[in-house]
Amino acid sequence: LGYFTFDPGFMATGSCESSITYIDGDEGVLLHRGYKIADLAEQSDFLEVCYLLLNGELPNAGQKQEFDHAITYHTMVHEQMQFFLRGFRRDAHPMAVMCGLVGAMSAFYHDSTDIHDPQQRMIAAHRLIAKMPTLAAMAYKYSVGQPTVYPSNDLSYAQNFLRMLFAVPCETWKDNPVLSRAMDRILILHADHEQNASTSTVRLSGSSGANPFACIAAGIASLWGPAHGGANEAVLTMLQQIGHKNNIPEFVKRAKDKNDSFRLMGFGHRVYKNYDPRAKVMQDTCREVLGTLGIKDPLLDLAMELERIALEDEYFVDRKLYPNVDFYSGIILRAMGFPTSMFTVLFAVARTVGWISQWKEMIEDPAQKIGRPRQLYTGPVERPFVPLAKRG
Ligand code: CMC
Repeated sequence: LGYFTFDPGFMATGSCESSITYIDGDEGVLLHRGYKIADLAEQSDFLEVCYLLLNGELPNAGQKQEFDHAITYHTMVHEQMQFFLRGFRRDAHPMAVMCGLVGAMSAFYHDSTDIHDPQQRMIAAHRLIAKMPTLAAMAYKYSVGQPTVYPSNDLSYAQNFLRMLFAVPCETWKDNPVLSRAMDRILILHADHEQNASTSTVRLSGSSGANPFACIAAGIASLWGPAHGGANEAVLTMLQQIGHKNNIPEFVKRAKDKNDSFRLMGFGHRVYKNYDPRAKVMQDTCREVLGTLGIKDPLLDLAMELERIALEDEYFVDRKLYPNVDFYSGIILRAMGFPTSMFTVLFAVARTVGWISQWKEMIEDPAQKIGRPRQLYTGPVERPFVPLAKRG
């Protein structure tokens, strides 16, 4: 091939240097800036993890306070976004709405286009982290015909998000600490995952010097697919389709059949060839939330049985296919009151900090170049142009 390597799907291509996230797929290890994901999920909170991803270190008390203020300062979106939102059909998929809304922010925040100013880069990051829950909740409220609930800056990030989603003007909203803690943990678990498809999309779009809001919209588009973030929605649809434990063997058989396009959603990963450490925390959180709410969801039993059967099956064992982060998240989100179509939106809200931290790292890297893969051309060789009148 001469001067380039042919690597479809970038199975063996390192595209950048990064000091943000480390994954050891064989051992099932995920570290952010050196900290274990389980420790962060257990002992930290989402905004602290945002600070860590963006700045490289955990904040001290003063830095934490300053950062919380910097984020809450930006939670509102330009009121004109309401009119933009109203241009969408109410039955549009909220991920389609999010691609549009976040892309549109590039028109509202022109100053962020100055990507070579470190202060503008940081403001763009803060704005994105702050405004994503507001936009996600606006998209949801619009889809169900309820009024927008504006952000409340004296609540935590997770509490504020839940309130904007589920509060209605005719009732007093009450925080359920188990649910807001679970939401915070889910946000942490999705915050970053090194050079996955959507992050690579953000880096690639950003490598041309494009506006960061437009780059994040590109990341949202990539995340939407069922092989990536859309898997959390697809898992729940699959579990509902399986319906009963007795039907599991039939679906496992289909997943193994190479002539059938069906796959076990929430299973397998490009990098993890062991249990996804996020799935473990997610399963524990799932039990905790359902237990507290007193919900007995038959889909949880079904999911656990499906996991048990798949993990004993030679096909899955040989290919090292384990449950990933998306396998249990849908069951928790459903218990919290999220409609299935909002699952991937929640993923996008959480991953925004990862995307923008990776974008920032790329822009600040002196070795940064525009991303420009090559191809193997398989079309015709050069040939003479035939005028329309002479074409058969
Ligand atoms: N069910 C059945 N077979 C599978 C599955 C699955 N979920 N995943 C992989 N395989 C098989 C695949 O058919 C192939 O078999 P063979 O070697 O016989 O051809 C082998 O395992 C390797 O699969 P691959 O498609 O070459 O692996 P990949 O690294 O390109 O794909 C993946 C990774 C995540 C796209 C894939 O495992 C998959 O489609 N999983 C289901 C979707 C899913 O859960 N996605 C969420 C990923 S984690 C969160 C995120 O990234 O957003």
